[in-house]
Amino acid sequence: MKRITIAIDGYSSCGKSTMAKQLAKEIGYIYVDSGAMYRAITLLALRNHVFATDGTIDHELLRTLLKEAKISFRRNEKSDVAETYLNDENVERDIRTKEVSSHVSPIAALPYVREALVEEQRRLGKDGGIIMDGRDIGTTVFPKAEMKVFVTASSRIRAHRRYDELKQKGQEAPFEEVLKNVEERDYIDSHREVSPLRQAEDAVVLDNSNLTREEQAAWLITLYKERTEA
Ligand code: DC
Repeated sequence: MKRITIAIDGYSSCGKSTMAKQLAKEIGYIYVDSGAMYRAITLLALRNHVFATDGTIDHELLRTLLKEAKISFRRNEKSDVAETYLNDENVERDIRTKEVSSHVSPIAALPYVREALVEEQRRLGKDGGIIMDGRDIGTTVFPKAEMKVFVTASSRIRAHRRYDELKQKGQEAPFEEVLKNVEERDYIDSHREVSPLRQAEDAVVLDNSNLTREEQAAWLITLYKERTEA
């Protein structure tokens, strides 16, 4: 069967990575979390004090760090899940903290950061048989992807999911604060100049506000079959 390219884009905390991982496992494709790459660069920026106290960014330092950064994904044998590595260090946990979440959008809005990461993403997907999730995969990274999904859900539902996720990790935060962070990220992601979050014309919309995981998985596999059998 033809090994296609699958792009899954959408708002934050829509469950994109959960659905993409599950689909990848089911059909034997490689899964790449492009958001993890922007998060890894943000972690690197925070560790190296790229942000001044007023939030301004030291671009010269960031450009140097970006040039030296090596991001990779390696399978965890125990959990059978791919984890993010930054310069050979497993940063899977460290890139999911509140601190990284609240600094990642300005980093992801920088044209030179996007240029470097998009190049790397295309390299990872050059042979097909890949599912990549993010914000600009169907519009910029793989505009010719055979299957494009644009995922959405209401901001309150997404904030609830994020709130539960943080609580599980012992990083509990007030719900209103989580909701504010989700809405702020939506705004920055969809209003930035370079590759803003938007639905590709040929993407299929999936509103999963009221879908169970099983219903969503069935929806995805049906679309995948349609695209590969066509
Ligand atoms: O999907 P996520 O929440 O882990 O993404 C983290 C941030 O990276 C988010 O603010 C949007 C940004 N991002 C992006 O700009 N382009 C992508 N392809 C993926 C993520």
